[in-house]
Amino acid sequence: MRIDIITVVPGLLESPFAHSIMKRAQDKGLLEVHVHNLRDFTPYKHAQVDDYQFGGGAGMVMMPEPLALCIESFQQQRTYDEIIYMTPDGQRFEQKIANRLSMKGNLMIICGHYKGIDERIREHYITMEISIGDYVLSGGELAAAVVVDAVGRLLPGVLNDETSALFDSFQDDLLAPPVYTRPADFRGWKVPDELLSGDPKIVDAWRQDKALERTQQRRPDLLERHD
Ligand code: ADE
Repeated sequence: MRIDIITVVPGLLESPFAHSIMKRAQDKGLLEVHVHNLRDFTPYKHAQVDDYQFGGGAGMVMMPEPLALCIESFQQQRTYDEIIYMTPDGQRFEQKIANRLSMKGNLMIICGHYKGIDERIREHYITMEISIGDYVLSGGELAAAVVVDAVGRLLPGVLNDETSALFDSFQDDLLAPPVYTRPADFRGWKVPDELLSGDPKIVDAWRQDKALERTQQRRPDLLERHD
């Protein structure tokens, strides 16, 4: 998978993909993340990319021309499955969307800044708008990093234990069960007997039980969707 991220603050995205699982995904050649500075595509003087909004009001808007030129220049090089705009008024990002995006080949992600991007770019180029939650960030960069991380770890071959993403929280509308490691007795606090039983059936039943219990307690809304 190849992901091109367009931003006016490329420095914000210098390190999120340089560590841990995202680094491994790239080292293995399973994921390519390219961060581009929108200012490199502007035809205006002083690398201008934003301007005052028509109708007045505080805050600048990202101009259509640099964005259109940037998007078109990438489209000439390859076909994009989705051109995503990160925005608080987009579709709420969930595991299911991450799953769906992980099956694509080329993604472009546009990070908004200031008051956002000119509406005509949304109408004519953007194919998907994503919000990572009901709060406003200073820009789309951190949100884009969240999407790339959630999608990148799902690419086949990225996680060591291929099955482990299957048991993530949300993967089947259930939260993940509690996990324990050594020692089995820490200051008198014991690991549940079921996990020490060595019987995969007992372990699975316990995990299923705890996942349901935890979901019931913390996110009963998820259970309405759980089959
Ligand atoms: N840009 C600013 N806030 C955002 C959010 N909550 N999700 C996605 N992009 C954003």
